[in-house]
Amino acid sequence: MKECVVIDLGGSKTVALAAKSAGDGKLQISGMIRVDSRGMKKGTIVDLDGVARTIDTALRHLANDLGKETIDAAVVTISGAQVEGVTVQGFKPIIPKNRTITSQDVMEVVNHSKAGFLPSERLQVQTVPRGFRVDDGKMVMDPVGLPGSKLEVNSYLITGQGAHVQLFERALTLNHRKVDQFIFGPLASGLGILTADEIAKGAICIDIGATKTDIAVFAGGSLAFACSIPAGGDNVTSDLSQLLNASLEESERLKVAEGQALSNGISERDAIDVQQQGQPGPRPMQRRVLCEIIESRMREIGRIAKLQVEKSGYLKSVPGGVVLTGGGAKLKGIEELFGQIFPELPVRAGEPRLLGGKDAVGMAGALGAAQFILQSQDDLSTISGGESWSDKVRGIWSMISRK
Ligand SMILES: Nc1ncnc2c1ncn2[C@@H]1O[C@H](COP(=O)(O)OP(=O)(O)OP(=O)(O)O)[C@@H](O)[C@H]1O
Ligand SMILES: [Mg+2]
Repeated sequence: MKECVVIDLGGSKTVALAAKSAGDGKLQISGMIRVDSRGMKKGTIVDLDGVARTIDTALRHLANDLGKETIDAAVVTISGAQVEGVTVQGFKPIIPKNRTITSQDVMEVVNHSKAGFLPSERLQVQTVPRGFRVDDGKMVMDPVGLPGSKLEVNSYLITGQGAHVQLFERALTLNHRKVDQFIFGPLASGLGILTADEIAKGAICIDIGATKTDIAVFAGGSLAFACSIPAGGDNVTSDLSQLLNASLEESERLKVAEGQALSNGISERDAIDVQQQGQPGPRPMQRRVLCEIIESRMREIGRIAKLQVEKSGYLKSVPGGVVLTGGGAKLKGIEELFGQIFPELPVRAGEPRLLGGKDAVGMAGALGAAQFILQSQDDLSTISGGESWSDKVRGIWSMISRK
């Protein structure tokens, strides 16, 4: 049975996960380690040694749990404002005419789609084929076996600034490990939390993390648009710290215990105790003020997310709605706030559920990446020929049908 190891580097925590495919399309988790992150901010590596140590700690613990000596490679989620996606087209004549299309043709047409579009300072992170067209017919997800004379593909090509991508590779090679494959963080989160039905209808996943918010739009049964915005739940905490003159720890406590994403309707008589810096003891304060500060930042994040979806042109193609995940989506009242921002769509907040009811807050990215690797294994990667992560190409159609 094939096993994969995923590393999801977050601003607050890093997850190392080992999983196997249980055969029936379900994922069997063989090990999971969660450690505090060092050196990650807004999806970017700001302290390479800190990140390398974080990964090393997580993978050593995971290896130990699995009864292995070492883990020498991992699938890595990558995100940040330096990573972007663009839709590209590829074309291949089928010769002789009307012969059956093979996996090799599919690989070649996907390679053609990404060939022309790589600016020199960027590296390809991932190519996700969205759909194929045979002889000007209808879009299909899998053209292998169809007769045709012309094959076209529509792919979502994800590229990252060279230095940004290389830092992630370095964070593994520093401890003699290598990157198996990169997966764009927003795509991983979307696959980890959205149902097959939501993806089929078209839906948006918004993963509100500690220092970034990853957005993925699925339309037409595949990834249509994804991006990462450099703000998350920790921005709320630092706003509270500044504006209430409280420590970060006290601000985090207040946010989680007393906070709410909508301040409207909170009585002015509703009071909370706040320990301000330099004060001998806690002082009473209106809870409404706390929630106004929280609302203002979360509304800003929501508005930017919506703007990105509007700009992508897919806002009208996502009747499956908005699904919020990540630690930031644990905030009370978050569904109502995003319901105001996306009044045209259903909104739900959720975390992936693990067997045995384990805490899975902020785990959508790690789980989605494992699903992607294990459940798309019949796709194109087996025939790509190349050994490097950048040669691997996987579509998501087979995993959606199995979800
Ligand atoms: N119950 C809660 N209510 C409000 N916020 C919460 C709650 N639980 C966690 N958070 C917030 O969620 C954030 C952490 O989320 P998550 O674990 O998804 O981040 P991450 O994956 O480490 O970071 P990123 O994806 O941004 O790199 C923190 O800002 C934390 O304060
Ligand atoms: Mg995260």
